[in-house]
Amino acid sequence: MTYELPKLPYPYDALEPYIDARTMEIHYSKHHAGYVNKLNAALEDFPDLHAKPIEELLQNLNAVPEEIRTAVRNTGGGHANHMLFWKNMAPGASDKPSGTLADAIVQSFGDFDAFKDRFSSTASGHFGSGWAWLVLDGSGGLKVLSTANQDTPLSDGLKPILTIDVWEHAYYLNYQNRRPDFITAWWNVVNWDQVTQLYETFLG
Ligand SMILES: [Fe+2]
Repeated sequence: MTYELPKLPYPYDALEPYIDARTMEIHYSKHHAGYVNKLNAALEDFPDLHAKPIEELLQNLNAVPEEIRTAVRNTGGGHANHMLFWKNMAPGASDKPSGTLADAIVQSFGDFDAFKDRFSSTASGHFGSGWAWLVLDGSGGLKVLSTANQDTPLSDGLKPILTIDVWEHAYYLNYQNRRPDFITAWWNVVNWDQVTQLYETFLG
């Protein structure tokens, strides 16, 4: 058993003009694929761990043998984070959440625009490489936060439902140093149906 790079749910050019095809191709086929390859190499001698979903290992990093813990945290995080990121996007998606998630966002942030502002400023203000997230906490409330490198909120007992990659490799070809412009464009391709579905799955 080895971890596999899942098929991208749309063609490389599907998210244009917001995310260009060349960025998608390099991001998916080089960066994400690289994390999967390195993760498999790190776990080569640990078939028991290999059999588990990567999210399970990240939820309990302390249970991972110390000699490969950092590799699982970095490359396993890279694998899991990118899988969510690809699924969180779709061409021609609706521009707002609806139903239960829309209500929960209003409850936690006041209104949708206030949530969007909070998420965007967290993503643009994150120092260095990392990710911004919308997560469910233990009591079912919603929170916005960012993590460094390939760290995931899963490791803190949280349940991530929406994420944006703010590593430079996610936007530099098209947006160079203009991370806020990438974030503004990214909102146009958020797949709110998928985010809502994930939210409802986590609520149980
Ligand atoms: Fe990335």
